[in-house]
Amino acid sequence: MRIGVPREVAGGETRVALTPNEVRAFADQGHEVVVEHSAGERAGHPDSEYGAAGARPATRSAAFAADVVLQVHLSGSGGAVGSSDTSDLSLLRPGTAVIGLANPLSHPHGVRRLADRGVSAFSLDLLPRITRAQAMDVLSSQSSVAGYRAVLIAAARLNKLLPMMTTAAGTIPPARVLVLGAGVAGLQAIATARRLGAIVHAYDIRAAAKEQVESVGGIFVDVPLDISSTEAAGGYAQAQKEEVQARQRDLITTAVAASDIVIATAQVPGRPAPLLVTEDMVREMRPGSVVVDAAAAQGGNCALSVPDQTIDVAGVAVIAPTNLPAGAAADASRLYARNIANFTRHLVADGRLRLDADDPIIQDTLLSRDGEVVHPRVRELLLAPAEGL
Ligand code: NAI
Repeated sequence: MRIGVPREVAGGETRVALTPNEVRAFADQGHEVVVEHSAGERAGHPDSEYGAAGARPATRSAAFAADVVLQVHLSGSGGAVGSSDTSDLSLLRPGTAVIGLANPLSHPHGVRRLADRGVSAFSLDLLPRITRAQAMDVLSSQSSVAGYRAVLIAAARLNKLLPMMTTAAGTIPPARVLVLGAGVAGLQAIATARRLGAIVHAYDIRAAAKEQVESVGGIFVDVPLDISSTEAAGGYAQAQKEEVQARQRDLITTAVAASDIVIATAQVPGRPAPLLVTEDMVREMRPGSVVVDAAAAQGGNCALSVPDQTIDVAGVAVIAPTNLPAGAAADASRLYARNIANFTRHLVADGRLRLDADDPIIQDTLLSRDGEVVHPRVRELLLAPAEGL
C-alpha cells in the first residue's frame, strides 16, 4: 500500500500526521510511505529523519497520489481555518482513503466536496469513545495536550504566581483556578494547574466527573441537583434543560468571581459549546485575571471569546485559542501519529484496505464512499441546509 503524508496548510497548524517512528513501522510492514517535503519541519522532524525511517520525500501531488492519505485536517473539508481551500481536491484520486479531522457536523458541505472526488473519507473526530478505539482516539490525545497548554497560557498571562510561596517578605497565597468541563481537556488542565501549585475547583454536569476531578487533585463544585440523568451513552453529556442551566449559572457566577484563572472546556459533542461564562461574570473577576476558552472553535463557553484573539475586559484577559495542540507540535504530532497509524492498521488486512461495513469504528467515522456521503448525521445536515453550515 502507498501511504501519502502531505504538509499541513491550515492556518497556524504546526503538526504533522505521521512522525518518522510511525513511518518506520509502516515501512517495516512493507508499505511505501511518501512524505511531502518539509511536512514535519514545524513538528521538529526534518526531511532527513523521514528518509532515514524509510519514507520517500516527494512533491505535494505525489503525497496525494496514494492509496491512503493521512492528514491532520482533511483538505477541502472546511473543518479548520484554511481547510476549505479546494485546490488540493484535484490531487486526490477516486478510491483513495483519506483519514484525518474534518469536523463534519459543523462543515457538512466539506464532506460533499470530498464525496464528489470519489474518495473514502474518514473523520477521526467521529471516532466512538469505546475501549477498542482508545488507541486511535485523536480527540482524547489532542485534548490532553490542549488542557495542559491552556493552563500554561493562563499562568504566563496571570499577574500572580500560581503556587503558595513563603519568603522573608511574607507568604503569597496560591492562585485559584476554576476548570469548567472535566472531560479529557479539563482533567488535564486540573492536573497541570495542581502541579503548578494552584488551588483548583472544577465543575461538570456529569455526576461521574466528581470522582475523576478528585482523583487529579481538584475540588468538585457540587450542584444540588439530581444530575444522574445527564450522563449519556458513550460517556458524553446530554444537552441541558433550561431550569438546570439557571441553577448552573448561579453556581458558576460565584465560582468565577472567586477565581484568578478560568479554563473553559465544556462541550456536548455535535452541538455548539454551552455558554457558561457571561460578560457580567467576567466583569466580576479581579483585574489581572485570565479566562482561557478552549471551546472557542465550537462557539465558546465564554460570551466574550473571539477565536484566536485576546480580549481585555476591564483588565481581565479573555483568551480563545482554537489550536492549542499546535503549541506543542512535537508531542501533539507524536500522539496524533500513533493514533492515526493505529486507525489505519485497523482498516488494513493482508496488506490491503478492508472496509467492514459492520464495524462500529468504520461506521462512525466513514463520511463518503463511491461518490456518496454515507454518514447518516452528515446526510441529515446536508438535507437541512439551515443547520450546521
Ligand atoms: P470531553 O467531551 O471529554 O469533555 C467535555 C466535558 O464538558 C464533559 O465532561 C461534559 O460532561 C462537560 N460538559 C458538557 N456540558 C457542560 C455544561 N453545561 N457545564 C459543565 N460541563 C459540561 O471533551 P474534551 O475532549 O475534553 O474537549 C473539551 C473542549 O476542548 C471541546 O470544546 C474541544 O473542542 C476543545 N478542544 C480545544 C482545543 C483547542 O485547541 N482549543 C483542542 C482540543 C479540544
